[in-house]
Amino acid sequence: MLVFEGLFAGYGGGDILKGVDLVIEEGSVTCVVGPNGAGKSTLMKVVSGLLHPRVGKLEFQGQSIAKATPRQILKAGIVQIMQARNLFTELTVRENVELGAFLIKDSSVVAKRLDEVCDMFPIVAQRAKDRAGALSGGQQRMVEFARALMMDPVLVALDEPSMGLEPRSAQIIYDSIATMNKNGRTVLLVEQNVRAGLSLASHGVVMEAGRVRLEGTGAEVLANPQMRALYLGGTIEEGQGVASSTGVGAGAPAFGNGS
Ligand SMILES: Nc1ncnc2c1ncn2[C@@H]1O[C@H](COP(=O)(O)OP(=O)(O)OP(=O)(O)O)[C@@H](O)[C@H]1O
Ligand SMILES: [Mg+2]
Repeated sequence: MLVFEGLFAGYGGGDILKGVDLVIEEGSVTCVVGPNGAGKSTLMKVVSGLLHPRVGKLEFQGQSIAKATPRQILKAGIVQIMQARNLFTELTVRENVELGAFLIKDSSVVAKRLDEVCDMFPIVAQRAKDRAGALSGGQQRMVEFARALMMDPVLVALDEPSMGLEPRSAQIIYDSIATMNKNGRTVLLVEQNVRAGLSLASHGVVMEAGRVRLEGTGAEVLANPQMRALYLGGTIEEGQGVASSTGVGAGAPAFGNGS
């Protein structure tokens, strides 16, 4: 569904993504993990069109989106929830959610979608008229999810959706991600809580220094001893990267926050 091939991108001071090769399968939950500064958010910015690749292939449903604008990408069916919270705190909850549908002209469609997201996230109906800024962090995340779903996306890209949330709120977020996926949406997830993220994922990806270093099922990546080195400050040796799913061993990784 989404294909990266030899992709390089950066912010002007040199490349941050240094040859990313990655395939996101339709219907999957792909979880990307990796140390701070690995380029995970940069990868997400490329997906949403906020940053264009310098070279390399980026295709969505068989079409290049390497030069597409954020609006074109949104219209194509990719919605992103950014790492930083980004609700309009002075607008109401409902106004924020309705903004998610700003590209939809038909008000009956907007009304119908609003009903659907209220079913999924009751907080949107319960606090509809409250200032978004008056909600807790976890509640604001729910509103962001609701807003993202107003476009009825086929691919949802989430950059650290559980960041700053206590375990119970984080669990609600993980459950919502699973539900989105069950409803047919492909999910690309960046998650700092390695254990929770990879447990949720059908496909796990480890990024380091702007490249994909390990891939496999979520469970395989979680069980990979190289992950341990990475999260204890080491690096994955060149040549061992992009390990096949057969190259993984057992052993309990000593990272992650548990879940
Ligand atoms: N707007 C920007 N301008 C210049 N450099 C940037 C910008 N955003 C990120 N970078 C740099 O790109 C590198 C990768 O950052 P990125 O945010 O992609 O990492 P990350 O893997 O998401 O890390 P984290 O786990 O901390 O969120 C870092 O060295 C960072 O300083
Ligand atoms: Mg990041």
